[in-house]
Amino acid sequence: MAIEITGTGRAIPFRRIGNDELAEKIDTSDEWIRSHTGIGARHIADENTACSDLALEAAKNALAMAAGFQWPAGFSGFDTFGDPAAGLSEGDRADRDKAAAEYAGTIDLILLGTATADYCGCPPTACIVQDKLGAGQAAAMDISACCTGFIYGLETAAGLLNISGERKRALVIGSEVLSRLIDWDDRSTAVLFGDGAGAAVLEKTSGASAGQDRRGLLRSILGADGSGRESLIFRRGGSRNPFKAGEVVDKPIRLEMNGQEVYYFAVKAVTMTIEKLLKQEGVTIDEVSRIVPHQANARIVQAAGKRLRIPMEKFFLNIEEYANTSAASIPIALDELNRKGELKKGNLIMTIGFGGGLTYGGNLIVW
Ligand code: ACO
Repeated sequence: MAIEITGTGRAIPFRRIGNDELAEKIDTSDEWIRSHTGIGARHIADENTACSDLALEAAKNALAMAAGFQWPAGFSGFDTFGDPAAGLSEGDRADRDKAAAEYAGTIDLILLGTATADYCGCPPTACIVQDKLGAGQAAAMDISACCTGFIYGLETAAGLLNISGERKRALVIGSEVLSRLIDWDDRSTAVLFGDGAGAAVLEKTSGASAGQDRRGLLRSILGADGSGRESLIFRRGGSRNPFKAGEVVDKPIRLEMNGQEVYYFAVKAVTMTIEKLLKQEGVTIDEVSRIVPHQANARIVQAAGKRLRIPMEKFFLNIEEYANTSAASIPIALDELNRKGELKKGNLIMTIGFGGGLTYGGNLIVW
């Protein structure tokens, strides 16, 4: 028995803000952003779009793929959200929705990784998605592991599928609307983030889980170092520091970040996780087809690659177009690769992530 990914999907807001446009509003430049991060643009949700809306669209694309939906020629899964003229026609969209709705009825579990939930803790955003998908028999909960949310989500879903003979299918989503919770006057964070969602359908199959023909999720490493919890933090609004009656709030909730601390932690975490995954599985880096890292900063990936002598071509980076979409970045990247046909059956794929908490982790998957 194997736990395989049978469908992927993504949703990217239509509105794109390039570095030059951002530099008209804050004291920064395309040159600084590119040279320090590798970011060229970010996509931003409109004011009516929340985390669950992006998650729902990505989930429908993943479910329809798992259901075997025939995508119209040329559909790349890119930029359909918020732009009725792009992507799927009305008819194709209705057919996609029908295929997704039928499959949603067979899903046993929905896990949604996010740091920018629709509401503050209650209700879970996953429950909103569960309702809108019509996934009536699915349990649903959010995974709060920030940018590592999708990696934690895959391993949690696999564990819950394995534990019970009754559960066969899970939907794991990463979705973020970080644009709403950052301070657009703080150039040290405003240039880094974007919005988006990605999703994957996980299914228990009759494939082998060991040996040469093994398939699906092989193993994961999950870790945390809570001593770094203040390096990335929404300080206000929770039970530690709630907004008070009568208080005048001059800024929306804002993400505070100690960039250098996160940077050093990330390089160490990525390096260590790659080494551990290879060692525990008994494989070499040459056997890994692609590494899909969390897209936070291209320099972090370059530094880790250099330390381990892994050629940069092995890492898939799309940060130039989407910036850092936190928990959504890995499933967005997986879907992009998948729809381009770059993930072939039998390929060994590694995901690597890190983020607020501080958390980190990685998965090894035979596609
Ligand atoms: N535009 C222009 N100049 C800037 C900007 C900007 N957007 N931001 C900072 N600067 C300036 C600073 O003011 C400073 O100027 P000074 O030397 O005159 O004081 C100079 O650039 C250097 O600033 P540093 O903060 O030292 O820049 P650094 O090289 O460390 O890069 C960065 C900053 C890109 C944030 C880096 O530390 C980093 O990538 N850290 C990791 C961040 C990260 O990955 N966060 C998210 C992970 S978790 C998650 O995804 C939620």
